[in-house]
Amino acid sequence: MNMFEKERETATRAARSAGDLLKQKFGNVQHIGKKGETDLVTEADLAAEKLILEMLRIDCPKDNILSEEAGALAGSSARTWIIDPLDGTTNFAHGFPFFAVSIALEIEKEMVLGVVYNPFMEEFFEARKGEGAFLNHQPIHVSHAGHLKESLLATGFPYDIEQKSHRIFEWHKRMTIASRGVRRAGSAAIDMCYVAAGRLDGLWEEGLKPWDTAAGAVIVLEAGGRLTTCEDEMFTPYRKSVIACTPLIHKEMVNALNG
Ligand code: IPD
Ligand code: CA
Ligand code: CA
Repeated sequence: MNMFEKERETATRAARSAGDLLKQKFGNVQHIGKKGETDLVTEADLAAEKLILEMLRIDCPKDNILSEEAGALAGSSARTWIIDPLDGTTNFAHGFPFFAVSIALEIEKEMVLGVVYNPFMEEFFEARKGEGAFLNHQPIHVSHAGHLKESLLATGFPYDIEQKSHRIFEWHKRMTIASRGVRRAGSAAIDMCYVAAGRLDGLWEEGLKPWDTAAGAVIVLEAGGRLTTCEDEMFTPYRKSVIACTPLIHKEMVNALNG
């Protein structure tokens, strides 16, 4: 008997419904609000979040929720759903079709379930702790890359990049020179799933929030990947930086970033 079957069903239904809603609204964004100079929120972020929260309230009324736009909603259980209703808002607002819904379940500080749905490509990534990672029901695994020089990497830039631009671009320069290339596609959740599926060999990023990485973290670990902070400390989605990669290149990534 698989663990968390009911929760998986709820998360799947919520992510697919929210993803379908995003797909419908894609290309027709009416309202773009600003949470910061470049940090956007559209009506689609809010509508997708509303849909997910309504489903969770019916299926799991006692659970806590931490969701990007709604914030922390206290429940009475030891379980927390961590939600990014639209990861890749800037892409979405500009009509660049690379975005996803991300939903994770945390129980007593452990991520036990994660789903990431890219509705545009109809790719559904999922994992439960101890049960492997899957893309559209097929098992996935991180790549076999052994060296940074043979690796395709990804990163992202924080919204407050202005304050940290020197370090961020120094890292970008070093990693670009050390690898086969660095992609910056604009969805940390999808980047993590691409590492899990072996499409990317590694990613690093700083300035992320729990909802960006919670689901991706379970999926990367269950696909055989390695997760730490950029300083090689233990990763949790509450830490602000991440390295997610195939294990053999981890040391080289840490050294390149911190050297
Ligand atoms: C953002 C994306 C982006 C990353 C940013 C995130 P949002 O999430 O994941 O790839 O570089 O740091 O904030 O705002 O689109 O949900
Ligand atoms: Ca996000
Ligand atoms: Ca978001």
